[in-house]
Amino acid sequence: MENYDKEFLDFMKAKYRITLDDATDGQESQIITFAVAWNVWKHAKRIYSQNSEISISRFMSDDHSRLDYIFEEFRRSKKAGLASQLFLAFKMGMERHIRWEEEILFPLARRKLGKDTAMLDELILQHKRIRGSIRDISGRLDSRDAGLENDLEQLLAGHDKMEEEGMYPWIDDSIDEREKGEVLSRMKA
Ligand SMILES: [Fe+2]
Ligand SMILES: [Fe+2]
Repeated sequence: MENYDKEFLDFMKAKYRITLDDATDGQESQIITFAVAWNVWKHAKRIYSQNSEISISRFMSDDHSRLDYIFEEFRRSKKAGLASQLFLAFKMGMERHIRWEEEILFPLARRKLGKDTAMLDELILQHKRIRGSIRDISGRLDSRDAGLENDLEQLLAGHDKMEEEGMYPWIDDSIDEREKGEVLSRMKA
């Protein structure tokens, strides 16, 4: 016998008008609906509990390290084909990372911060510079420009530090477990 929780049973009654009795002894469609919903519910609960073990700070800082590693490999790579593949992987990863920040994390921080948004505004400005720098490097992949690559490396070092020491821990401190689970699920989707 499955260990159904009360929240799930209340949800099924309110949403589908299926009780536990219907689910074991009712119409076939009710039994199937109940079984499918329970599997989805259990899966969601598992994701929430996994998410509760990891902070936003940890998740995003790990992504910084992953992107740094790809960028370093790109800088070390002397073969044009490999270098452009590595740069493409870096560019796509960075676009996804910035999207997580600008579409999920920063709007959440802005709601919590109220009017005090100077750090967010600065980080968004830096994102613009990062995107511009990535565009410049993309345009010069045939004749590599070490100066442009150094600039991006430095830009990212300062930017990541500001997020890892300021914004991410601040977000972790200002959201509850449920919000954290939702945020991480959206980013993992
Ligand atoms: Fe960022
Ligand atoms: Fe970041």
